[in-house]
Amino acid sequence: MIKIITIDGPAGSGKERISKFIARKYNFHHIDSGIFYRRLAYELYRNKIKMSEKKNIKKFIKKINQLNSKKLNILREEQFGILASEIAKYDFVRNFINFQQRLATKTPHNNKNGFIIDGRDIGSVVFKKAFLKLYVEVDENIRAKRRYKQLIDKGEKSIYQKILEDIKLRDKKDKSRKNSPLVIPKGAKIIDNSQSFKKTIEQIRQIIERIN
Ligand code: DC
Repeated sequence: MIKIITIDGPAGSGKERISKFIARKYNFHHIDSGIFYRRLAYELYRNKIKMSEKKNIKKFIKKINQLNSKKLNILREEQFGILASEIAKYDFVRNFINFQQRLATKTPHNNKNGFIIDGRDIGSVVFKKAFLKLYVEVDENIRAKRRYKQLIDKGEKSIYQKILEDIKLRDKKDKSRKNSPLVIPKGAKIIDNSQSFKKTIEQIRQIIERIN
């Protein structure tokens, strides 16, 4: 049986790095659910459909059988993150993307043990019956410090206080969204990613070895 591991948590909590680690170590495919939202936003943008045009978005979605989930670099751009968050509010978009995510796990999986999918509502909504659910927690001050360091290392100007405020605002938006808010899924194991990555990996190893 193909296994599904879900991993949810707030922005900047390190879900992606953890997912990639698990995928490599335990031979799973990694699916980044944010890419689906970004891809749809990108396609709408290319077709000159505004994120506010619900009717046109509905029509557009009807024509898509399988949404391309390739991780193109352009999709990572901030502008598509913002556009993605605009369409992620609509429940018809979420239903469509949820279907697409489940579809992606039905495709041939070349000797992998299963799929690890990261996002914000993966264990609570999309794969409620997952084999293992993880939820990553990191204190907002630590997330802000890490983000600040990343930007400074890249040579970009940034203000720590502003980063912290942005993180707080994004958390508030994610947690208070009407459709599929960010919650700790029922039965999820909490991973504390506030300290070194080595310590995080150790928590994962203990969880996975206990259930195997
Ligand atoms: O994780 P990300 O930054 O790539 O996500 C882009 C946007 O998509 C994010 O602003 C919120 C939305 N999203 C979502 O609503 N649910 C998910 N499971 C993943 C992403």
